[in-house]
Amino acid sequence: MYFKETQVYHHISEMFAAGTDTTATALRWALLYLIHNPEVQETMLTEITQVTEGLPLIADRDNMPYCAAVVTEVLRMSNIAPLSLPHVASQDFTVAGYFIPKNTTLIPCLSSYTRDMDMFPNPDKFDPGRYIDSNGHLTGQDRVLAFSLGKNGAETLCLPLTYSLNDSFDTLLTVCLITV
Ligand code: HEM
Repeated sequence: MYFKETQVYHHISEMFAAGTDTTATALRWALLYLIHNPEVQETMLTEITQVTEGLPLIADRDNMPYCAAVVTEVLRMSNIAPLSLPHVASQDFTVAGYFIPKNTTLIPCLSSYTRDMDMFPNPDKFDPGRYIDSNGHLTGQDRVLAFSLGKNGAETLCLPLTYSLNDSFDTLLTVCLITV
């Protein structure tokens, strides 16, 4: 099956429209949080220089749990898409006692998760350490629903989720390395 030229045009336009402002806004928030939390910058720099002598690569991410936690915390705090995108119920269903008929427009409120006090104690505090367990491993990133609800690869998520994460990760780390 082949795409028509207009379909390719619209797919590429959608990537630009959905990908530029979201990523740029996330990075602007990241800079603000790092300015206000210089100790976080120091911890990131220590981790980066322990793992690599040059610029950090996406492939280094598994060895940089603290830096990955910083990206996650930026995405939680900054609420880039607080109401995600509207969806339509493809069938009748009941949730928490509420009957939702087929064809209802559904708008998820992602910020109600990202600021949930039970999931994120002291939710207004910028604290990447909340994703690091006692062994220094990354934990609980999947509680942050910045890319919407659903399983990875399901159609309810930001389409290029992995790309968005990688993009935020290496850009932020490069900025951190240059500025600290
Ligand atoms: C920090 C960065 C980003 C955030 C927080 C974000 C967040 C989201 C959210 C919440 C949705 C709605 C998902 C849904 O419920 O249907 C979405 C959809 C989408 N995003 Fe992103 N996004 C980011 C970066 C990007 C990038 C870099 C691209 C492209 C290169 C992109 C392309 C898309 C597309 C094409 C959709 C629509 C998917 C569909 O039609 O099902 N996003 N994004």
